[in-house]
Amino acid sequence: MHLSSRLIFAATSTIACIASAAALNITIKQNVPFAPAKLPTPYAAAQCDVIVELFSRLGRTTVWNLVEKVHIEGDTFEPEGIVRIGDDRYFVSAGEYTTPTVKYGNNTIINGTDRTAGSGFAHIMVFDGKGKRIADATLTERGAIEYHNGGIDYDGEFIWATIAQYRPNTTATLMRIDPRTLEPTVILHVADHEGGVVHDTRTDKFVMLNWGSRNATTWNSGHKPAPYPSFTTFRDKTRNPSYYVDYQDCKFLGHPKTFNYRGTMICSGVASLSPTVAIGGVALVDMDTMIPVAEVPITMTSDLGVPVTQNPMDVAIVDGRLRFYFMPDQHNSTLYVYEAEPNSPFEYGGGVY
Ligand SMILES: *[C@@H]1O[C@H](CO)[C@@H](O)[C@H](O)[C@H]1NC(C)=O
Ligand SMILES: *[C@@H]1O[C@H](CO)[C@@H](O)[C@H](O)[C@H]1NC(C)=O
Ligand SMILES: *[C@@H]1O[C@H](CO)[C@@H](O)[C@H](O)[C@H]1NC(C)=O
Ligand SMILES: *[C@@H]1O[C@H](CO)[C@@H](O)[C@H](O)[C@H]1NC(C)=O
Ligand SMILES: *[C@@H]1O[C@H](CO)[C@@H](O)[C@H](O)[C@H]1NC(C)=O
Ligand SMILES: *[C@@H]1O[C@H](CO)[C@@H](O)[C@H](O)[C@H]1NC(C)=O
Repeated sequence: MHLSSRLIFAATSTIACIASAAALNITIKQNVPFAPAKLPTPYAAAQCDVIVELFSRLGRTTVWNLVEKVHIEGDTFEPEGIVRIGDDRYFVSAGEYTTPTVKYGNNTIINGTDRTAGSGFAHIMVFDGKGKRIADATLTERGAIEYHNGGIDYDGEFIWATIAQYRPNTTATLMRIDPRTLEPTVILHVADHEGGVVHDTRTDKFVMLNWGSRNATTWNSGHKPAPYPSFTTFRDKTRNPSYYVDYQDCKFLGHPKTFNYRGTMICSGVASLSPTVAIGGVALVDMDTMIPVAEVPITMTSDLGVPVTQNPMDVAIVDGRLRFYFMPDQHNSTLYVYEAEPNSPFEYGGGVY
């Protein structure tokens, strides 16, 4: 028997003058803490230099060993981002779609976008290390047009999320979520779809990635947000020069010496190059220029045939090995944990010439 309880309360905010853009409705499945009492340092940032070093040894011939496959309990909707907080908790962002979006006919653009708003809910779900469900929270009100919860980052205190309309060139709300309570706090509203966010904890800069991660926009916490729902102006906007894959879920790594102490994030993503050719990849990306400073293709697919780099990705070093956590499938998900084999044969790029 599961203990199940439902709590409904409007999110309170430490930032004044925020309208109720967030609504919290938690369904609890196991009566255990959502997060460790002492919140741990994020794995990606804690292990930045080792991740950068081991990433530099990856190539097309890297052997990826599947070290764990965890069935994730219950409907996961469309998972978009994942953070591991401690060794026994996975937090997963997802979008639930109750009315699908519909493309306008004949490539019509109305109000800058190409489809209807649809409807749904933004979720954050908590699972234990065995994939058993602990809690599922919706963060948005019924009828809200921003319900797409994208790629997430965890900074040691909060989970950062962008909850956006599920269509390009529209609007999004940057929120932080307390991992201990799942309570969302609205930070600001932006006039673009944002599909993911990364928090550089050293400079307190937030990098948000829009539809297909084509543009990165930044905001610094020292810059006062416009009162919600007015739009806050970006500090910077940087075109992503890479069309190799569209980044879906990124984590802040740090300011590694190898990259001249520049803010660096790790991102995973996919691209459909034609109806029959889909590619996946992971990259280390300069957070100021969006230039990938290292990148490698990833060709594994889930048992259901989806590229593993579709949506959620987290990273860690375990026993000196570089490990990725992927959760590509919708609704009925499996967490795939892969490690790069350190003794993989190294070829000059692995190409056939
Ligand atoms: C809260 O979530 C539960 C489970 O998804 C749902 O059945 C219920 O209608 C929701 N309540 C509100 C007020 O949205
Ligand atoms: C698209 O345009 C064609 C030609 O103008 C027209 O016949 C057709 O009805 C349009 N379709 C939609 C869905 O608007
Ligand atoms: C376009 O924007 C205008 C002004 O906000 C609004 O009245 C109209 O309903 C929008 N059109 C569609 C198709 O969403
Ligand atoms: C976004 O929409 C605005 C109007 O709302 C339009 O001026 C702009 O060209 C659009 N941008 C893109 C990339 O489609
Ligand atoms: C990216 O930003 C540039 C500069 O503002 C703009 O011209 C372009 O339309 C944007 N592209 C997308 C896909 O958002
Ligand atoms: C979920 O997916 C697994 C394979 O990953 C499959 O064995 C199982 O039957 C699926 N369950 C449902 C309810 O679709």
